[in-house]
Amino acid sequence: MLWRWSVEVRQAVSLSRDLTLRQANSLSYFKVMDSKLSIGTIGVVGAGTMGNGIAQVCARAGLKVILQDINDEFLQRAMAAVDKSLQRDVEKNRLDEQAKLAITGRIRTATDMKALGEADLIVEAVTENLSVKTGVFHQLDDLTRPEAILASNTSSISITKLGAATRRPEKVIGMHFMNPVPVMKLVEIIRGIATSDQTYDAVRGLTFKLEKTPLECNDMPGFVANRVLMPMINEAIFALYEGVATRESIDGIMKLGMNHPMGPLTLADFIGLDVCLAILNVLHDGFGDPKYRACPLLKRYVDAGWLGRKTGRGFYEY
Ligand SMILES: NC(=O)c1ccc[n+]([C@@H]2O[C@H](COP(=O)([O-])OP(=O)(O)OC[C@H]3O[C@@H](n4cnc5c(N)ncnc54)[C@H](O)[C@@H]3O)[C@@H](O)[C@H]2O)c1
Repeated sequence: MLWRWSVEVRQAVSLSRDLTLRQANSLSYFKVMDSKLSIGTIGVVGAGTMGNGIAQVCARAGLKVILQDINDEFLQRAMAAVDKSLQRDVEKNRLDEQAKLAITGRIRTATDMKALGEADLIVEAVTENLSVKTGVFHQLDDLTRPEAILASNTSSISITKLGAATRRPEKVIGMHFMNPVPVMKLVEIIRGIATSDQTYDAVRGLTFKLEKTPLECNDMPGFVANRVLMPMINEAIFALYEGVATRESIDGIMKLGMNHPMGPLTLADFIGLDVCLAILNVLHDGFGDPKYRACPLLKRYVDAGWLGRKTGRGFYEY
């Protein structure tokens, strides 16, 4: 009870501080924050759907970015995605060509993780798998400066576990961007058991600099966003599996009836069916509650390599 109360009070204080920050949204204020944080270079590990979006928004905010992945082909694909996304803004007169070149010019790519050694803060955005992520955090701990903050974009994996893979758990935090990163305003900020207030404040300040809104939550499986979203997506897949309705009807009912901008099956394709399955498994294991068991149809699609938009086929064909 006391714990719940203190969380609520902390969140209320944090929200009012966030509002004050937004009201004080002047460049000079951010410069002060900047000099205090001295975050000038961001490392991004994993250049997939999320990693390239995170690199783009950081570079757009004037930060230097080192984008790292395991092979050059993935990095080239990521830079092409960044270019395409910025080009859309140029065509809509939201950006000029010169500014676009300056943004892409601030992103350096690397296959060698050692390149991340000069970063002030690293955002990990690799595959949603505990052993892959703990391996990455272990390496980052060895290769980066001891004062660097290590953030994870994980959708569901314990920040406390990732912190425990390092010698600096106080500097490990969840920074959960939403997809597509350049468009979505929320960053869910997750504190692990050992995350320090200093780390939290630094990451919150950075989130504002990226022109996004940070909302804080504690380290429980799926945090808030996916604890609420994934059971809905899973239920929509069960409805399809059981023949309750067609994919178009299920999505149409949720769009027209609930005012959702996108139906749950379309959204699952957009997120990636492998990512959805991984998150449901974390919820199922973490809570031990059968209500989170993934629909067999979702498992079958992932087995077939039908992962959604990124592979050209999921619940829909692209
Ligand atoms: N897809 C979404 O909608 C979404 C939304 C929010 C958060 N997330 C989270 O973001 C993370 C990344 O998801 P994604 O959708 O971008 O995945 P993705 O499959 O598109 O990209 C993952 C990238 O990580 C790279 N990678 C894997 N192991 C690596 C390693 N050891 N070192 C460097 N790079 C490595 C892969 O080569 C790949 O390019 C996951 O934790 C996911 O849960 C995803």
